[in-house]
Amino acid sequence: MKIIWMSDPHFALDGLVLGHDPRVRLQAAIAHINAHHGDAAMCVISGDMVNRGTEADYKGLAKCLSDLAMPYYPMMGNHDSRELFRQLLPVPDTAMYGFIQYQVKTPEAHVLCLDTHKTGSDAGEFCEARRTWLLDRLRDAGATPTFLFMHHPPMPLGLPTQDTDNMEDGQAFLEMVSTFGCVKYMFVGHVHRAISGTVGGIPFSTMRSVLYQAPPPRPEWNWDTFEPSKEAPSIGVIQIKAGSVTLQFDQFCRYELGVNAS
Ligand SMILES: [Fe+2]
Repeated sequence: MKIIWMSDPHFALDGLVLGHDPRVRLQAAIAHINAHHGDAAMCVISGDMVNRGTEADYKGLAKCLSDLAMPYYPMMGNHDSRELFRQLLPVPDTAMYGFIQYQVKTPEAHVLCLDTHKTGSDAGEFCEARRTWLLDRLRDAGATPTFLFMHHPPMPLGLPTQDTDNMEDGQAFLEMVSTFGCVKYMFVGHVHRAISGTVGGIPFSTMRSVLYQAPPPRPEWNWDTFEPSKEAPSIGVIQIKAGSVTLQFDQFCRYELGVNAS
């Protein structure tokens, strides 16, 4: 099974976001996906669907994403609004009450799209209600390979301006999920940078944003302000077979496309 992974499009109906045009970038990603990955079973978008969270932005985003050649699964990020999200984006019927958290079952795997949003905060959380929902799904999974998608990392990643905005109760989250052998991989958004590793015995990757990228951790840099790096965006191409997974990072346009556009 092939899954396309996009993260952090930060869509806005007008204007730029940190000097980048979110409409140009998202349209380039969709064109690339349709041209080269039309065989994917689904596209998962790991949060920060919009930058401001207005109704007009969500409507514009939904119109753009309707061009995707495969079903897509939108997820909550810190920039998103649950109310507008539920009204204006296609949320599966399996979503739990009160949260944009849901399961996608396929013959090869269970995909769990988690809601780590904390209202009014850039940092994330995973409350008791969401933990209970996840525990039930992990117990039900048995030996079925299960893949977690989430916006906020449940662990620090060594990024000075970003580690303060992770999942606040990340350690408890990791202690819970690491007891389940069915959990094969975590796919994480939020940091606008590609990082891979293992935590609590679980392999994970983060993903570059469709829009702007976070700089690598270099000790000599001034970290008082956040400035995007001049790196091109990419999508993830995930292949799942018999419980094993590969992730390819696929650049869909050059860095200059949509940067400082008028
Ligand atoms: Fe973001």
